[in-house]
Amino acid sequence: MRILSGLQPSGRLHLGNYFGMMEAALRLQQEGEAFYFIADYHSLTSIQQPDALRQNVRDLAIDFLACGLDPERCVFFRQSDVPEVCELSWILSTVTPMGLLERCHSYKDKVARGIPASHGLFAYPVLMAADILIYDADVVPVGRDQKQHVEVTRDLAIKINEAFGEGLLKIPEPRIREETAVVPGLDGQKMSKSYNNTIGLFEDPGPLKKKIMRIPTDSTPVEDPKPTENSIILPLYQLVASEADYQTMLADHQRGGIGYGDFKKRLLEAVTSTFAPMQERRQAIEADTGYVERVLSKGAEKARQVARPTLERIRRAVGLGA
Ligand code: ADP
Ligand code: TRP
Repeated sequence: MRILSGLQPSGRLHLGNYFGMMEAALRLQQEGEAFYFIADYHSLTSIQQPDALRQNVRDLAIDFLACGLDPERCVFFRQSDVPEVCELSWILSTVTPMGLLERCHSYKDKVARGIPASHGLFAYPVLMAADILIYDADVVPVGRDQKQHVEVTRDLAIKINEAFGEGLLKIPEPRIREETAVVPGLDGQKMSKSYNNTIGLFEDPGPLKKKIMRIPTDSTPVEDPKPTENSIILPLYQLVASEADYQTMLADHQRGGIGYGDFKKRLLEAVTSTFAPMQERRQAIEADTGYVERVLSKGAEKARQVARPTLERIRRAVGLGA
């Protein structure tokens, strides 16, 4: 089984990225041959500062490795180190109905948030389809907001197969962990860097404390039972605490007698202890200059060995070349 996923290097990782996608991707490393990459071509649609883009790629690579990505077990690379994917993206775009892209939510959402309405942003799902199809991926672990893009990928693969030969492209399956499909942010909306409501994985203790202590709560008096519906603290705590500790907090809400400040402290402690070992690993990786580049270039070599024959197969099938 080949597993594939990508993450855009568009800012530091937050709990939504980790529990929505990364944790599952890291677990899947054990179950098959995993291909994970940093989607820098995709990030060009929103970042036009070369130094910032390069720094983000490096930070994300370190974060991924610190969280447990094992470069001996999986192929870890930078999307743009395999430019073959752009050629496949063009070929796919020739069978992509405009209507299919027009129905994609992410383009409209991003334009509404102020990202320039470029062709790249509009055609983004086609490049994502090429990312998946060029490596013959079986399974694609993503957060729920990317599900539509995996469906577009399936549609495009089916179209190519119908037009140019059955079995030419493998039809991939999305893998979405339903219980953590949407991680709430500090304000209760979906956690997202564009909503400024994130808890970073590697946040410094001071800012982290401030953020958690500022989570909005209602004005139920300390001694009264606290509502458990619409709580922001509880679903976040459930992600980082043991089941027993979560049940205790739930019971403490229902019983009353404990204030929100105390619940926030427990949340802060659980977030800190969950990510402390990764934080330590992160510092060690950062100190080893050259390590990240070595991992990424080795990954790129392996990825290209898979991408080239797929592209060649498609080129031949559609009639390109002699
Ligand atoms: P952001 O919304 O902060 O821009 P991205 O769109 O870069 O995050 O998401 C990267 C990955 O993390 C995707 O697979 C996405 O589905 C997942 N993800 C992001 N935010 C959340 C969230 N709040 N809950 C669940 N998954 C998320
Ligand atoms: N579009 C994804 C995101 O914003 C990143 C991505 C690019 C991706 N190509 C991919 C994810 C291929 C899975 C498979 O999060």
